Amino acid sequence: MPQAYEIIDHTYDVIIVGAGGAGLRATMGMAAAGLKTACISKVFPTRSHTVAAQGGVGAALGNMAKDRWQWHMYDTVKGSDWLGDQDAIEYMCRHAVPSVLELEHFGVPFSRTAEGKIFQRPFGGHMSNFGEAPVARACAAADRTGHAILHTLYQQSLKHKAEFFIEFFALDMIIDEDGVCRGVVAWNLDDGTIHRFRGHMTVIATGGYGRAYASCTLAHICTGDGNGMTARAGLPLQDHEFVQFHPTGIHGVGCLISEGARGEGAYLTNSEGERFMERYAPSAKDLASRDVVSRGMTIEIHEGRGVGPDKDHLLLHLEHLSEDIFTEHLPGITETAKVFAGIDATREPIPVLPTVHYTMGGIPTNLHGEALRPTESDADAVAPGLMAVGECACASVHGANRLGTNSLLDIIVFGRAAAIRAAELIDSESPHRSLPKDSADMALSRLDRLRHASGSLKTAEIRRAMQRDMQSHAAVFRDEKVLAEGCETIDKVAANIADIGIGDRSMIWNSDLVEALELENLMACARAAMFSAEARKESRGAHAREDYPDRDDDNWMKHTLAWIGDDGKVTLTYRPVHTWTLTDEVDYIEPQARVY
Ligand code: FUM
Repeated sequence: MPQAYEIIDHTYDVIIVGAGGAGLRATMGMAAAGLKTACISKVFPTRSHTVAAQGGVGAALGNMAKDRWQWHMYDTVKGSDWLGDQDAIEYMCRHAVPSVLELEHFGVPFSRTAEGKIFQRPFGGHMSNFGEAPVARACAAADRTGHAILHTLYQQSLKHKAEFFIEFFALDMIIDEDGVCRGVVAWNLDDGTIHRFRGHMTVIATGGYGRAYASCTLAHICTGDGNGMTARAGLPLQDHEFVQFHPTGIHGVGCLISEGARGEGAYLTNSEGERFMERYAPSAKDLASRDVVSRGMTIEIHEGRGVGPDKDHLLLHLEHLSEDIFTEHLPGITETAKVFAGIDATREPIPVLPTVHYTMGGIPTNLHGEALRPTESDADAVAPGLMAVGECACASVHGANRLGTNSLLDIIVFGRAAAIRAAELIDSESPHRSLPKDSADMALSRLDRLRHASGSLKTAEIRRAMQRDMQSHAAVFRDEKVLAEGCETIDKVAANIADIGIGDRSMIWNSDLVEALELENLMACARAAMFSAEARKESRGAHAREDYPDRDDDNWMKHTLAWIGDDGKVTLTYRPVHTWTLTDEVDYIEPQARVY
């Protein structure tokens, strides 16, 4: 039993946890549909990680050259290395165009062409005519597209009278005796009070878990909180082994240099001055899919053609680009290069390295954003009362590798889809069922356990060990020996949480405690990723096994489900990939060799 806390109760139609682009698009849509909507966020909404998205949102508007959403769908299926669910991919690419135009009408300040249309730039893996030649599909607001979208969606949510609970940390979900999610218990970081949020629907929109790694482009807040809560609620995490390395993180710092730079003509070289991507992707070169570019870069470094005293990174050249491109299209990365690498990108190349950027897996959902609790007889069974959208979710539109610009697209399309579904399912007039007596116990016992933890290890020490383990055992290239070792190590590191000690316990607000709670969430994500990766004996998308170099559709065209027991043990089951489309306007795209 947890210690007695005074609990402040709130009742809404919908509770959204997370105020990044996905959470805010769902919040805005649900509030606009007349649902009483609460959005809980551990940071001020416009500080959510969507703010860092740079290069653009993918949609076949065809403003710069002919484009079709069917080509976008083909590129996304190919990019996913045939692990994506094609019905969901069709839904996303088909709805991309109206969703981006809707954003324009909400007020997103997109960059413009001379005729006043939304400006679009090429991005890796986006091609015209079913893979023929690069096409400009990324709709951009300079190189600050996420920033523009996030601010607009927050303003729209306020306009529709959504209520925000800012700097509230969600501890755990409330699941009743019938397995229905009834809301969440949250901790107000400002004053230490405990809040119970009850809703007909709870939407998890907490972003990715990139901070499980030592070097990533993600903000410190990206700690997989929703995935951790989901695992503790007895639901599975899908496809966690697929972790995307962005080719151009700044060496030694991790900050993102947008793929939009290569879309504008930037290119990579090695220590011999070679444009080495010609070797790995003769046609698309620097604009191949991210996993392909990251693998090419890693091979260059492993074979001794890296640059710098340790030959451990490569160079990204923008010096040849015109001044207009820097000022109008790439002002953000020019500033980032200056501040974080001390580099004037107009004159000298930027030192870069593949860096963890996105996690393709997450809470399994259908294309309405409803979370799934797959059973043996029904792989698509819905977990009642629960939705998930954005990077924490796995719809699965990204499969084994996400195309650049499809993350901003995912959040707006599926945030919107979740709002439409919630409006269909929820009757605002219907009474809320009473909550189980022990509804807050799980969350508060966890809070108590960590609050009073008096062990010998610091949160930061355990986190560092986890990040090192992930970085060295689940990186761009993997094999059995390294992964088996990684599973053993991650189990040992996780066991150290039992010996954690939390700083000064006389304080009500204590950042150590938040970080310990976040660490438990990250650890669940890391374990799911490591064990799922060890089990998958093939190479597909971002999961490159040196001992199994080929894709194996006969045995492995299936989604991994990692179930984490109370003892932390990971059990793996699998569910089939959807090999059908949503409508008969497009055919299922048969698996092919993936070359760029
Ligand atoms: O490179 C970028 O601007 C990142 C975009 C994305 O991850 O979609």
